[in-house]
Amino acid sequence: MAEIEYEVHPLFAEPLFRANISHAISDKQVEIIKNLKMVQNKSNLISEDLYIFNHKELKSIKNAVQKALDIYAKTVMGISQKLYPTQSWSLINQPNMGMHGHSHSNSIVSGALYYTDMPKPVASMIFDRHTTYQQLQLTPDNDKKNIYNTTMNVVTPKKGELIMFSSRLQHFVQANMSKDTRYSVSFNSFIKGKLGDLRDVNELRLS
Ligand SMILES: [Fe+2]
Repeated sequence: MAEIEYEVHPLFAEPLFRANISHAISDKQVEIIKNLKMVQNKSNLISEDLYIFNHKELKSIKNAVQKALDIYAKTVMGISQKLYPTQSWSLINQPNMGMHGHSHSNSIVSGALYYTDMPKPVASMIFDRHTTYQQLQLTPDNDKKNIYNTTMNVVTPKKGELIMFSSRLQHFVQANMSKDTRYSVSFNSFIKGKLGDLRDVNELRLS
C-alpha cells in the first residue's frame, strides 16, 4: 500500500518572552530587593510590599520592564494599547521550598525577573498547557512528545533574565534542591488605552 503524504502545521502558538536585562540591575538594587521585608506565602516567602517597582531606587529595573512590555505589546500581541506593570513583588524560595501551581488573575501578561545567581541545580518554572480540569488525559508517550501534544514545558531561568508569559497560563516552581536561597521578582500588567469602537457602542477607555 502507498504511503500517505501529509503535512501538519501549527495553527496557534503560546509566547514565552525572554530578555537579559542585567544592564539595568545594580549591586545596590540587588541588596535593596534582597533586604525587603518578607512574609509567609503558601509555600515560600513574598515581600510585604506588593508594589516594589514604586521604589524610586528600583527605577531602572521598572524602566527596563516597561521597555520589555512595550516590545511585547507591539511585536508579540500586535496591539496599540500600552501594557504597564500593576503589582510587583519579590519572592524567596529557601532550600526545599517551591511554589504551588497558580495563574495570575486580573492581569494580561505576567513576568519574572531573576536578579541574582541562580542556585544549582536551578529550580525551573513549569508551564502547564491546560488551564482547566481535564476529564480525559491523553498523555503522549515520552518519546512522542512534540509542540502539539506536550502537557508541560520547563523554563530554566538565568541570572539577569526577564521572562514574560500570558497571565492565564498555569505554572509552578520546582522545589529548590540547592543549599542556597533562590531569589526572584514577579509582576502583573494591564493595558491603558482604548478598546472597541465608539459607534459600535463597545468602546472602553482605560487610563
Ligand atoms: Fe506566577
